Amino acid sequence: MKVLVINGPNINMLGIREPEIYGKGTYDDLVGMIKSAASRLGVEAAFFQSNHEGAIVDVIQEAYGMYDGIVINPAAYTHTSVAILDALKSVGIPTVEVHISDVSAREDFRQVSYVRSACIKTIVGEGFEGYIHAMEVLCEKREKED
Ligand code: DQA
Repeated sequence: MKVLVINGPNINMLGIREPEIYGKGTYDDLVGMIKSAASRLGVEAAFFQSNHEGAIVDVIQEAYGMYDGIVINPAAYTHTSVAILDALKSVGIPTVEVHISDVSAREDFRQVSYVRSACIKTIVGEGFEGYIHAMEVLCEKREKED
């Protein structure tokens, strides 16, 4: 099972950005945590982070035929990007949307998710663990289909 973990803008600033919201762990800590969970789950995980919408669209397109699942935290693009939604719908790879914070309890502009309708599940407010939960969801879906 090959899973691509995509993170959007400012996720590279974890540890520095608003630690009271996102915690003190860095992006490297996040990747390390996901990697160890992935090996426990038998998942081959690959990672991509970008601050650029088009780069995220490109990597989703390139994932076509290459990955069995996507875990995506589109960060601020969650609330604006029809292009990322369309890219996810184009490739049709089972995708789980993750947010570190509980976006449902934050500002009004964070209540809209453009990508949600292309995702099999949305996980919010579980911190870094949310990414592991997302991989588990993809594994369970895979097992049910086999
Ligand atoms: C976020 C929530 C978004 O609203 C925000 O723009 C982010 C991070 C989260 O992981 O909680 O950058 O996606």
